[in-house]
Amino acid sequence: MGATVQGTISTEHIGLFKNVIGEAFVFTDEESIQHYSHDETENLQYFPEVILKPGTAQEISEILKICNQYNIPVTPRGGGTGLSGGALAHLGGVLLSVERMNSIIEIDERNLQVTTEPGVITEVLQDAVKEKKLFYPPDPSSRGSCFIGGNIAENSGGPKAVKYGVVKDYVLNLEVVLPTGEIIWTGSNVLKNSTGYNLTQLVVGSEGTLGIVTKIVLKLIPLPEFDLLMLVPFKNLEQAGEAVSAIFRAGFVPSAMELMEIDSLKIVSGFVDSTAVSITDDTAAHLIIEVDGSNLDVLMQEMEAIGNLLTQYDIGEIYFADDAQQKAELWKLRRRVAEAVKMIGYTIEEDTVVPRAELPALIRGVKMLGKKYDFEVVCYGHAGDGNLHIRIRKEGIPNSYGNQEMNNILRELFGIVKDLGGTISGEHGIGLIQKGFTDIVFQESNLRLMREIKKAFDPKNILNPGKIFDI
Ligand code: LAC
Ligand code: ZN
Repeated sequence: MGATVQGTISTEHIGLFKNVIGEAFVFTDEESIQHYSHDETENLQYFPEVILKPGTAQEISEILKICNQYNIPVTPRGGGTGLSGGALAHLGGVLLSVERMNSIIEIDERNLQVTTEPGVITEVLQDAVKEKKLFYPPDPSSRGSCFIGGNIAENSGGPKAVKYGVVKDYVLNLEVVLPTGEIIWTGSNVLKNSTGYNLTQLVVGSEGTLGIVTKIVLKLIPLPEFDLLMLVPFKNLEQAGEAVSAIFRAGFVPSAMELMEIDSLKIVSGFVDSTAVSITDDTAAHLIIEVDGSNLDVLMQEMEAIGNLLTQYDIGEIYFADDAQQKAELWKLRRRVAEAVKMIGYTIEEDTVVPRAELPALIRGVKMLGKKYDFEVVCYGHAGDGNLHIRIRKEGIPNSYGNQEMNNILRELFGIVKDLGGTISGEHGIGLIQKGFTDIVFQESNLRLMREIKKAFDPKNILNPGKIFDI
């Protein structure tokens, strides 16, 4: 699927952009337009008319002033790994990439903070602070290629969220260019702040609709010295879901608690050519359980106690990752599931989240819908957070966006999610593909407030228009 609203940008506009950022950073060639026409969302493709790669907040400010004057839509973009279509230029116009703004400005070891530009790859940032024995926990599966700026836009999560929280829990302050061109700091570089409305947290997760983040101040924590990792095979998928909440009820807080339905492991094992995990015929799903901390003896006791607790379920032999290499192998398998299943046609991904103890009911609901509507489904995700990624494959339907049949199925799925007390996105955002479903989880008043906030920031609706909601 592809669509472009052509003709919003003239050669005169292009000339104005070149004056601001220099000819070398304005792209209209076919290859660039192709490259920036998709992210990781389904099979969707939309062509921007021009790609701009500014280097400073001041340049972004000048660009936005031009776009504001001439009503040109601007789609901000980080690493292009998003799964809800936030970085897709579905109305054509300008695609603004922050990839040149890729410096870590300062690691403040006195205050345990880091100030960074938005185009820094998340893993690069994590490794840089790790050298100082500091820890920035949010670690989306795409951390090797996603940008910290995109993580702010989506309020990303990842496996560590279950113990350490998501991106919002680490953002202290943001420099933001507003759609009008004004440049503001949203807060202060402090750990507590009750000073007026929380503009910082309003921008976090706003999916590039309220402003373009140009500097980010993040809280860091001391790096835990040790971690232990185990893989537990379950013979029944729902039981794996049940075990998740039982572990927390027993008083444990693992640093990761991931679910992989057996098909996801089989597919990814083939994709990355790994035999790290032996797959037995009677296994329905695995839980990946990690604990971390600074006392190895305590961690070993915890792992043993969790293992004992799990014997009440129908489980196979537990696999302990012995060394760094085995752990890395296991995480590689988990992190590459999304990519692997997409390659073989599971292009539709949902990001449902329910209260943790409702996970088995959600799994039951998903499987029931798969049978009822005849689609293939594979589940995986952040079970400890009740956050289940649901990958769907159905012959002839590569995208949910714009497909009535799939939309009807998803409405029923999200109805189940809502009835269980959950919501439709835990960490991927609403973007383009989920905006038709927000009425399921919000009252009209919620949506009215959001639209009015959007209007206050972006009176002419130029910044990522048509994402989250239509005005
Ligand atoms: C993951 C991404 C898809 O959990 O959120 O792998
Ligand atoms: Zn995820």
